[in-house]
Amino acid sequence: MTSLIFPGSFDPLTRGHRDIARRAARICDKLYFAVMNNDHKEYTFTLEERVNMAKTVFADYANVEVIGSNGLLVDIYKNLGCNAVVRGIRSESDFRYEAEMSLANRMLYPEYDVVLLPCRDDLSLVSSSMVKEVGRYGGDISAMIPTEILETVNDRLRKGRN
Ligand code: PNS
Repeated sequence: MTSLIFPGSFDPLTRGHRDIARRAARICDKLYFAVMNNDHKEYTFTLEERVNMAKTVFADYANVEVIGSNGLLVDIYKNLGCNAVVRGIRSESDFRYEAEMSLANRMLYPEYDVVLLPCRDDLSLVSSSMVKEVGRYGGDISAMIPTEILETVNDRLRKGRN
């Protein structure tokens, strides 16, 4: 059985993330969608809230399991016996970031590997930080966020403004 893991902050999960997960789920038997913490980021949504949003979005995806962890990615990777990590890339700078992260993880666990999926053209400008900025100013984020979690995301971003 081939299993992949798609880790990320998902603060919040965007249509871009969902597209990568959907495509990754097609090329493996099991996809772990892992909501994690990045030490360099401050979060708008708690880990639990991010996990719950992901569970809502992937409720009907038979081979996608949502997990949450505030530990090290290589530890989950090892424990779940994953074949590779999946990450989406939008740009050259994303590629550099992914290459560095994969080098670091490979130093911790030499069997670690990564599959990079280029994002869809029409989603190449969508990022969680852009969603948050547009949403906080009351802009329309419906083209960037899966419909099932749009209200939750809007509620939090608009409250953050007051
Ligand atoms: O969506 P992001 O913020 O780019 O995802 C980064 C993430 C969460 C995958 C990365 O920070 C991570 O793996 N965090 C878990 C802790 C860890 O293993 N850190 C070492 C990374 S080299």
